[in-house]
Amino acid sequence: MKPKLVVGNWKMNKSFDDAQDLIIDIQDALKDKKLQTEVILCPPFVYMELLTDIAEEEDSQFYAGAQNCSEHESGAYTGEISAEMLASMGVEFCIVGHSERRKYFGEDNHTIAQKINLLLKNDVVPIVCCGEQLEERKNGQHTEVVKKQIEESLFHLKPSEFERVIIAYEPVWAIGTGETATPAQTQEMHAFIRSLIEKKYGTEMAYNTYILYGGSCNAKNAVDLFMQQDVDGGLIGGASLKAADFVSIIEAGETVIKDN
Ligand code: PGA
Repeated sequence: MKPKLVVGNWKMNKSFDDAQDLIIDIQDALKDKKLQTEVILCPPFVYMELLTDIAEEEDSQFYAGAQNCSEHESGAYTGEISAEMLASMGVEFCIVGHSERRKYFGEDNHTIAQKINLLLKNDVVPIVCCGEQLEERKNGQHTEVVKKQIEESLFHLKPSEFERVIIAYEPVWAIGTGETATPAQTQEMHAFIRSLIEKKYGTEMAYNTYILYGGSCNAKNAVDLFMQQDVDGGLIGGASLKAADFVSIIEAGETVIKDN
């Protein structure tokens, strides 16, 4: 098994002071642990510098990630943040195509592909989200939906580009609902995504690609999810907002790696 990767997606939460406290608490809790598990924190843009200041230090326990970027390169797009700006601030990762962006901001696979291209051009690693709605799962369309999302947003990439991408499978019905996908459902979808990558880019690329699970992943269920062969870690929303919960999820990653 590869070392696990745990990403905290804070969404639109926390005041400046609370953000600062959370970053410091996570840094302190992880400091002496010598972890194999990699950690990325994705706060709102306005707090990014708090994070990049620490992330650039030698004893930093995490990398800085953003939650979104513009599909445009630069120019008259009031309120937007470009991939180039993120890169210039030392941000190394960026979530793209989260289901909340698809639902509330009308993002489609085409927009997401544009964002991915710009992130890669600026050496920022895209964390690309995919996942089906509840109705789609009930109708047995979940694999078809995820296949289309992945093909349309990612499969135009050259192998040298695709190898820098992280995928996050987040069933929409599990996000923020407390209803987690079962380990078996998760493993099934992750194995399916890996098989798509294998067909397109070969076995080595399929093995090396990190595929994270997201959707009500918490301190209690993380070990069972991370134990699945094709689950390389988690994209954590609600449970990343409290240092103790988030650190327990990171520790779950360590437990699984030590036992395997
Ligand atoms: P959740 O969110 O952990 O609160 O379900 C995950 C996500 O949306 O990335």
